[in-house]
Amino acid sequence: MDAPIVAVLSLKGGVGKTTVTLGLASAARHEQRRVLIVDLDPQANATAGLDLSAIGYTTSDVLYDGRPGVALDAITLTGWGPHVDAIPAERALEHRAVPSGTDPVRRLQRALQGVATRYDLILLDCPPSLGELTRNALFTATQAVVVTEPSYFAVQGAEQAVEAVSVARREGNRGLSVVAIVPNRTRAALSEHRYRLDELRSVFGVKVTEPIPERTAIQQAQGAGVPIHAWKSSGARSAARAFDDLLGRVADVSGRAIAEELAAREGR
Ligand SMILES: Nc1ncnc2c1ncn2[C@@H]1O[C@H](COP(=O)(O)OP(=O)(O)OP(=O)(O)O)[C@@H](O)[C@H]1O
Ligand SMILES: [Mg+2]
Repeated sequence: MDAPIVAVLSLKGGVGKTTVTLGLASAARHEQRRVLIVDLDPQANATAGLDLSAIGYTTSDVLYDGRPGVALDAITLTGWGPHVDAIPAERALEHRAVPSGTDPVRRLQRALQGVATRYDLILLDCPPSLGELTRNALFTATQAVVVTEPSYFAVQGAEQAVEAVSVARREGNRGLSVVAIVPNRTRAALSEHRYRLDELRSVFGVKVTEPIPERTAIQQAQGAGVPIHAWKSSGARSAARAFDDLLGRVADVSGRAIAEELAAREGR
């Protein structure tokens, strides 16, 4: 069976796309699932967090080449062990990303042909804009996870991301749906955060997941290039639990059921 392909996106920079991507990868690894992270951000933060020992081909090369299945050549081992592979990013992705020509937003989809059968989960870490790289992700993904912060702009930002998903659906990726809107960096003690979470839930209902708490351990684990599930602290454990929950949404049978229910409600 083909793995779900999950695009992790947000309109704003710095809200936690890479953190959610790495957290989901860590949760999948913890359950011994095979996971591939495709780093689509020229900043290459996910690549750095995965502790790669050597980098050969990158997403930049893959998109530039664009032949069906070429992504297989760029799959790289990571320091996270045998279940976790990556296609790394590099700075060059910024300017030589997607050559013009036919269907520039479908190059990633073509390049990944045949890859989904080898994994249980594929994660696409998007850059902080809805440019061509994110659009490539949205034409490739089977599910979208929207990351947001509990701030004044959260609802607006999430609405725009959900709209981008709808556009990709209308333009041909009919199976795509938003399975989760993830509030990140929340502090339960702050009444402002609780207010913003309620606001998000009132607009997006069941799509809003349990929040990912703000924990220093997340930054420490990322800095050390290790999965949050392998970091020993109470903060790491609470963050890991939040990512386990989220993994249930995106990769499990129950996650698919939610996706189907949401799709049905949206009248598709
Ligand atoms: N829940 C959290 N607790 C503590 N620190 C966090 C949390 N989420 C994110 N951070 C930190 O905030 C910074 C930005 O997070 P991250 O890189 O995941 O955002 P991003 O959306 O991928 O950013 P960009 O748009 O630049 O790609 C990082 O230093 C990360 O370690
Ligand atoms: Mg990022």
